[in-house]
Amino acid sequence: MKNIPTVLLISGGQGCEREVSLAGAEYLRGLIDREKYRLIEVNISPLGGWFIGDEAVYPLRLGNRQGLWRGGKILRIDCAIPLLHGDYGEDGRIQGALDTAGIPFVGCDTVSGAVCSDKSYTRAVAESLGVPVARGIPLPEGLDERELRERARELGYPLFFKPKRLGSSVGATPVYNDEQLYGAYALSCEISSGGALIEELVEEKRELEVGVLYRSGKRIISPVGEVRCEGFYDYRSKYREGGSEVTARADIDESVERQILDYTERLTSELCPGGLCRVDYFLSGERILFNEINTMPGFTKTSLYPRLMAEVGISPEALCEILIREAIGGGR
Ligand SMILES: Nc1ncnc2c1ncn2[C@@H]1O[C@H](COP(=O)(O)OP(=O)(O)O)[C@@H](O)[C@H]1O
Ligand SMILES: [Mg+2]
Repeated sequence: MKNIPTVLLISGGQGCEREVSLAGAEYLRGLIDREKYRLIEVNISPLGGWFIGDEAVYPLRLGNRQGLWRGGKILRIDCAIPLLHGDYGEDGRIQGALDTAGIPFVGCDTVSGAVCSDKSYTRAVAESLGVPVARGIPLPEGLDERELRERARELGYPLFFKPKRLGSSVGATPVYNDEQLYGAYALSCEISSGGALIEELVEEKRELEVGVLYRSGKRIISPVGEVRCEGFYDYRSKYREGGSEVTARADIDESVERQILDYTERLTSELCPGGLCRVDYFLSGERILFNEINTMPGFTKTSLYPRLMAEVGISPEALCEILIREAIGGGR
């Protein structure tokens, strides 16, 4: 067998975003150059077990050997691609596991993943950088109905509810009254950890997104793209064929574009200084509001992120190559 680097593509996972991850792996599989890299795939089961086919494996470092513990031996891995989203995937936990095992990996590090996956922390950092966000109030775990009502009153209905640490719009919903709020909160506490967040319901908004990629220590920022769909951008419209329309060049004023790119620089310097990410904003009238950073943006064939990168001349295949090279070279 040729002596080429081994790339480990990790997909599946425990989170609600398992399907998104599997669709991403399907796409990415076809982009990796097999002449250059040997591809091994791990599927993380819904219960969190790591499998190659039906053989259980796990990341491990033994002395100076590092990789996957497979059948009593260490299988050397040169680069892992944790193509996972949300809980356990994008929130620093898998990054920590790979780091501990000494396996280089694609994407942001543990701390960036953890902070960016927590919508309250990200908001707080954005505010400290002078980047505007929607008015919002965190809802810690363990609140009772009366406490919830009080917080909602502070903000006022209608409001927008979201679990603090889930993505793909899972559990995210507009809320118009106390009963709905309690229902949304109870469900969110069941499916996610860390509590939730309520924000003013931003109406009549456009959803603008920017892709960021690091190559050789330089940050590449894409133009501002747009996602359009009916109502708000929910799980179905995100992943159903034709459920949303994405364009890699939003039709916006130059001054808005400039402002968004400036915010993106500030935010990523602080929150995601390596790897890749997608930074999402709302444009509501004149207001530009930062919404969130995805440190492992959706990477399916219909996703905006690869299209944004294509706008700066980086094809999906080249993007894949850059991500792997950066990880192997320690440029993460
Ligand atoms: N404050 C808000 N007002 C109105 N709609 C919102 C608000 N926050 C989020 N949304 C809608 O919900 C979607 C998902 O919320 P988001 O914060 O992006 O979480 P996720 O991590 O699930 O993508 C957004 O794309 C947007 O359509
Ligand atoms: Mg989002």
